[in-house]
Amino acid sequence: MTAIVLNLFECKQRSERSAGATPIAGCAPEQTIEQIAETLRIGESAATGATGAYPPDPVFDRFLPEDLRVVSGEYWTPLEVVGRAAGWFEELQIGTVVDIGSGAGKFCVAAALAGHCRFVGVEHRPRLVATARALAQLFKVDDRVHFVEGALGQVPVPPAEACYLYNPFEENLFPVDERMDRSVDLGAARHTRDIAIVEQLLQRARAVATSRGRRS
Ligand SMILES: C[S@@+](CC[C@H](N)C(=O)[O-])C[C@H]1O[C@@H](n2cnc3c(N)ncnc32)[C@H](O)[C@@H]1O
Repeated sequence: MTAIVLNLFECKQRSERSAGATPIAGCAPEQTIEQIAETLRIGESAATGATGAYPPDPVFDRFLPEDLRVVSGEYWTPLEVVGRAAGWFEELQIGTVVDIGSGAGKFCVAAALAGHCRFVGVEHRPRLVATARALAQLFKVDDRVHFVEGALGQVPVPPAEACYLYNPFEENLFPVDERMDRSVDLGAARHTRDIAIVEQLLQRARAVATSRGRRS
């Protein structure tokens, strides 16, 4: 990895979560996949310029299974953030981005639609990997978007010029009954270990970007 862009946007505060939950099926405006892709491409050019125009998140989230749709506001990157990150990737001429903790694939797929990069997601929940692969196929970006099943530290971080994280480790600190599900072992020890791995990655970073801005 020659450069890392860390784009670490904090998830919503716990008190905001239920209020920010994505509307259920039927409430989202029904745009076609082609229309959504076109709007995201427009958003990508806007991300580097003056204005920003992205589809509302429910328009995209409609293509996720319902139980993953309703947690979108809590776990998946908002499209406006996708657009900002995609703009930075274009500006820095990044070829490949690795998304550590890629979830249902929303970031990788939407950012691929918005720009020209290749994306590799690393995700430890097998069901989310399967959903993400299906999403990439649905939006016809599966030639540029791939997902590796496994946990950080257990599978190698795929080679990439940039690394994206959307607060993947906080769930380790949630009470068990407030986690997304119980399919993976989480906890404070794992939180400490995963943060240490990312800190090592950051030591090799050429540029770091956070929700507060970018430093090269
Ligand atoms: C907050 S979600 C972000 C998903 C995606 N990056 C996005 O923005 O749409 C974090 C994801 O990281 C995954 N995750 C957390 N710790 C992980 C680890 N150590 N290895 C692999 N995946 C992990 C979780 O299962 C979850 O799907």
